Amino acid sequence: MKDFRELSLKRFSCRAYDGRSVDRTLLEKVFADAMLAPSAVNRQPWKFMIIDAVSDPEGAEIIRGCYEREWLRTASTYILAIGNHAEAWHRPCDGKDHTEVDLSIAVEHLCLAAADHGLGTCWVCNFNAPKLSEELGLKAPEEIIAIIPMGYPAEGTVIPEKKRKPLEEIIMWGRNNGVK
Ligand SMILES: Cc1cc2nc3c(=O)[nH]c(=O)nc-3n(C[C@H](O)[C@H](O)[C@H](O)COP(=O)(O)O)c2cc1C
Repeated sequence: MKDFRELSLKRFSCRAYDGRSVDRTLLEKVFADAMLAPSAVNRQPWKFMIIDAVSDPEGAEIIRGCYEREWLRTASTYILAIGNHAEAWHRPCDGKDHTEVDLSIAVEHLCLAAADHGLGTCWVCNFNAPKLSEELGLKAPEEIIAIIPMGYPAEGTVIPEKKRKPLEEIIMWGRNNGVK
């Protein structure tokens, strides 16, 4: 078992891949690990569409056309995380829809599981969501929450240093943050 910190440091936003597809057996292992993720009322309101650029070049072009970045073209496996708003739990007191909360947890588990298996990933949310949904024939209550390119990091990839806010900026020790 890897140390949690070690695994968290190994997961980074990989923006250069060597172009090899991830084979199905490995993808199944990654998903089996990732799907231990929790979800509100255990609804698991998600589906994952896996598009392989080698077997489905047209599908890959649809994705690349909805987030036009040269680096995205270096990946050949794309995972679309699709949330289902009708399956997700809605909090009774105010109706808050937990689709995005659940999908965020699942996607990050997926990224960590992929890192554990030596694969790179990157969260992508800045895509043209209406265009992608239309081109893939997806409609409400389903929503594409994120695109996750997944693959083998390009040769020579160096994991960038993590830049994070210091703990004193983000932790409030009690209601008054330690001030009496
Ligand atoms: C919800 C979310 C959306 C993101 N969307 C994008 C994106 O559209 N394009 C991109 O290149 N990176 C995207 N990122 C990656 C972040 O820029 C990255 O996680 C952050 O800079 C920290 O770097 P690290 O992942 O290497 O630790 C996204 C990350 C998250 C969590």
